[in-house]
Amino acid sequence: MNRTTGRYERTIAGSEEVAAFVPAPLPPRDPALAMDRRIAERLAAAERALARLDLAGEMVPSLDWFLYAFVRKEAVISSQIEGTQATLVDLLTFEAARQGSADADVEEVCNYLDALRFARRELADAHGLPLSVRLLNEAHRRLMQGARGANKQPGEIRRGQNWIGGSRPGDAVHVPPPPHLVPDLLSDLEKYLHGDDDLPPLVRAGLAHVQFETIHPYLDGNGRIGRLLIALLLEHWGLLKSPLLYLSLFFKRHRAEYYRRLAAVRTEGDWEGWTAFFLDGVATIADEAVASARDLFAVVAADRARVLALDTASVAAARLFELLPRHPIVSVATAMALLGTSKPTAIRAVESLVAAGVLVETTGRKRDRSFAYQAYVERLRVGTELLT
Ligand SMILES: Nc1ncnc2c1ncn2[C@@H]1O[C@H](COP(=O)(O)OP(=O)(O)OP(=O)(O)O)[C@@H](O)[C@H]1O
Ligand SMILES: [Mg+2]
Repeated sequence: MNRTTGRYERTIAGSEEVAAFVPAPLPPRDPALAMDRRIAERLAAAERALARLDLAGEMVPSLDWFLYAFVRKEAVISSQIEGTQATLVDLLTFEAARQGSADADVEEVCNYLDALRFARRELADAHGLPLSVRLLNEAHRRLMQGARGANKQPGEIRRGQNWIGGSRPGDAVHVPPPPHLVPDLLSDLEKYLHGDDDLPPLVRAGLAHVQFETIHPYLDGNGRIGRLLIALLLEHWGLLKSPLLYLSLFFKRHRAEYYRRLAAVRTEGDWEGWTAFFLDGVATIADEAVASARDLFAVVAADRARVLALDTASVAAARLFELLPRHPIVSVATAMALLGTSKPTAIRAVESLVAAGVLVETTGRKRDRSFAYQAYVERLRVGTELLT
């Protein structure tokens, strides 16, 4: 593909003079994005998969806990791409404890959740922030809260030159645009998001992600905010009724290709290659989400039957069971709070669920014990294992 996607500008990074890349505004031009057969087929497959996912979302009896699970999974995985070592179980355990302070990795995942929740709420609210650079900045402020983010200029566009890959600017894979150009580049991107071209919205969401990563507007957190942008666009543009699609798992699985395809847009003008990769990701992840929804529901239905068949099953145990999909890790204290009962009643409810083989004690301790809805967590965990 012979297409120029931007220009280079000399800039000073550290003490070196390097060529920074300044991307041309979207959409791809000269030539326009080729919606050839390969891309058209993948687009159709991705759209079909999204329709199936929408349907699955409508059919699940409790979309609420399904969303709860998926959003947490996305937060963990997107943070892991960056190197955060927290697992899904760490996050659920921390949330179940409802007290104490999280370690830095868990804090990072909680911040991602907070940023995502914040941005979705603003977009859904008629008086909230619109889809804009300001919205992303505010999400970034939340993402960078706490110890690790303190020196990363939370919520602010960078004022210095950065680079990606390599030990110094001179051998970097990518030198993003010089800081004085970033505000205008971002406002071009914002205009693109609000404008219209002939490309399908799904394709446009993929283009926007690349453009955002190429601009690399923050000191850190660009990958996470750029992936969050994809999720927001899918929901905001009505590609999905509920936010059930999170691509971080696909990017984590194909991390080398993800980085390579981002770079190839700049170095080879290969928007088509990126688009095919991105659409493939949408189709794959949407299909996996449908399968995972089915699977989780089957587990819950089978376990519910087991709980109800127990001789010792009490109303409290049955109620606690129904709360588990949203609170898959509990302690006696959280069971008490969730049920609003006395300690003995909570203990009996937990014990019944242990007897049914639904809850499993995870600490091995005698005190401050913690119980997991293991079969459920195991299924949810798929893909959230740490990269080695
Ligand atoms: N060659 C490249 N060109 C443009 N963007 C890239 C390139 N390689 C990687 N990226 C993007 O940069 C991100 C890393 O940037 P940064 O460290 O600011 O973000 P992060 O959220 O802290 O990290 P991560 O994405 O690893 O979680 C990658 O996730 C990817 O989205
Ligand atoms: Mg980083």
